[in-house]
Amino acid sequence: MDRKLDELLYALMQNTMITVSGEKLARDLGISHSTLVRWVDKLRHAGIAIRGELFTGYRLVRLPDVLLPQLIRPRLHTRLIGRNVYHFYDVDSTNLFASRLLAHGRRLPEGTVIIAESQTAGRGRLGRTWHSERESGIYFSMVLFPKAPPSLAPLFTLATAVAMHNAVERYTGLDIDIKWPNDLLVGRQKFCGILSEIQAEVDLVKTMIVGVGVNANHEHFPEDIAHRATSLRIASGRIQSRIEILLEFFEEFENIYMDFERKGTAGIIDQWTRFSSFANGRKIEIHDGVRKIAGVTRGLNPLGALRIEQKRGDVEEVYSGDVVAWE
Ligand code: BTN
Repeated sequence: MDRKLDELLYALMQNTMITVSGEKLARDLGISHSTLVRWVDKLRHAGIAIRGELFTGYRLVRLPDVLLPQLIRPRLHTRLIGRNVYHFYDVDSTNLFASRLLAHGRRLPEGTVIIAESQTAGRGRLGRTWHSERESGIYFSMVLFPKAPPSLAPLFTLATAVAMHNAVERYTGLDIDIKWPNDLLVGRQKFCGILSEIQAEVDLVKTMIVGVGVNANHEHFPEDIAHRATSLRIASGRIQSRIEILLEFFEEFENIYMDFERKGTAGIIDQWTRFSSFANGRKIEIHDGVRKIAGVTRGLNPLGALRIEQKRGDVEEVYSGDVVAWE
């Protein structure tokens, strides 16, 4: 259904500000008048401002910022990432949708991306939710089949953070930091989170779903997260193009991912360490789900665990958790 709505919206976008006859739209799309009326209603419901009706014709009131596959495809320079796209106006969670596709045995090409304009049940790390306001954010999941053991899975999440760091810095000119393991910060506030979910056999990752949420153009946030969340728009004072950031990201990620297949994990660890102010010499406190570990950071081990030197001088390697305090 959303694919058809995309076609209708794309047809309207080819004629922005011009009224297109309903007759012609229905004919071009090969649908009946009543179907056209229904689809226009659905697009309106998804927040797209369309004037007119079947007999007067339809026109877009303004060019909507929608991540249409029709706009992404012609500008893509990747071989894998984003070559196959599912696009939704509303979905519960792009990660959930991807896992449902895989669970139903759908054979997806590696690098398939599921994009949503908004999510009704966006999921965050550690069982949290992800605020997924329509049109403001970039919400997507990538389906990967890395030829790697499960122990290396966290590295692909770090790689995603590095790729988004590079994409956002290049496109916005903002100074971006990576908070371990994979939160992206501008200033000390978070604008991007990553949630990876894997299905693995004992020695091989079968599928990996990497979900990314970017606060691009949010103007404000719900009270409970307002003190720690920000958006690229708030940080830069400018509306940011979601499609440009997404395209930059796809290329960055593909390069890092291909590099892993050729050269292994060193490149990921090296870039993460260079771009994160949390990598070395930072006084932090981490909650790993069971206990709090406080100390000074001493880089990543080859599997992406953060090395923390504690007061007694011994070094603990932490594989997952949340930085709860830092100086
Ligand atoms: C975090 O808690 O920092 C991770 C947030 C990940 C959010 C993204 S939005 C797209 C994808 N679908 C989801 O349900 N979650 C991820």
